[in-house]
Amino acid sequence: MKEAILKCLKETDGYVSGQRLCEMCGVSRTAIWKVMSQLREEGYEIDAVKNRGYRLTSAPDRITPEEIYSHLKTKWACRPTVYYEETDSTNDRIRKLYTEGYGHGTLAVTELQNAGKGRRGRVWQSPKGTNIAHSLLLIPEIHPMNASMLTLVAGLAVCQVLSREVPDARIKWPNDVVIGGKKVCGILTEMSCEMDYINYVVLGIGLNVNTETFPEEIEAVATSLYLATGKKYSRSELIANIWEAFESVYETFIRTEDMPGLMDAYNKLLVSKDRQVMIEERGTRSTGIAEGIDREGCLIVRMEDGSKRHIMSGEVSVRGVLGYV
Ligand code: BTN
Repeated sequence: MKEAILKCLKETDGYVSGQRLCEMCGVSRTAIWKVMSQLREEGYEIDAVKNRGYRLTSAPDRITPEEIYSHLKTKWACRPTVYYEETDSTNDRIRKLYTEGYGHGTLAVTELQNAGKGRRGRVWQSPKGTNIAHSLLLIPEIHPMNASMLTLVAGLAVCQVLSREVPDARIKWPNDVVIGGKKVCGILTEMSCEMDYINYVVLGIGLNVNTETFPEEIEAVATSLYLATGKKYSRSELIANIWEAFESVYETFIRTEDMPGLMDAYNKLLVSKDRQVMIEERGTRSTGIAEGIDREGCLIVRMEDGSKRHIMSGEVSVRGVLGYV
């Protein structure tokens, strides 16, 4: 009911009469009044005028299910959304939710992770209340060998959404989205599978949204949407937009279980396309020119000796010759 009332207040320019809300929800005026009190406690400013009704004058930047649903246009992604004020890692929450019977499309979202995980055993830290840390549960009917492509699918969706705000947002294959050469988003994909069968995939996405300053150690390589544009963003709206874009890219991917339908879009946004990259594997370094991804999501690199390598994600580290990008 709270969600429906919030949606109605948001969609209405002026006042919404108490009577209309009562009829919409099939409850008494007292019940509506109680919801308004709850919303005010959560930081919403609601004007109440006798004989006119209620009007929303300002909404806090919250990422509760009600806020997310009020923007969400997906068929299955983020349905349901499970919110934690604070948790260890949303990827770990999704594993737990799966064992409790939650299904494909469930989203776990939090204001604060106290054990956020990055790739290669790194820590993912993000201050409370300014960024996005969330994970989606997928139960895809694809071969486990193809699961790593889901990271590319997610990266493409995030980059498409960010590039509406920042035209030079790019994908750093395979897991990051960057703006001006600095990381704005990291993706951690985890999977539980049998030999030829996926139990589930967790797609964890961390996005720096409204952060104003970063610790000195990462200042040179990290950025936020705010730092890139000077604008503050509604995180719930971004979440809704990301998963709407993801749903569409995912459905294209699932139809073929490889990347042909997405390769062009992906390669257009690939930061290293036609640029020199350094490949690090087992202590050795070599350089080449990145040509784009192939239909399996491998990065094609033309090496200095003219040979071509198709690099699988997770196999080696690929970075720019002058630094991170
Ligand atoms: C990386 O760049 O190394 C990946 C970072 C992934 C961070 C996200 S935040 C939400 C989800 N929960 C986690 O513990 N990690 C991912």
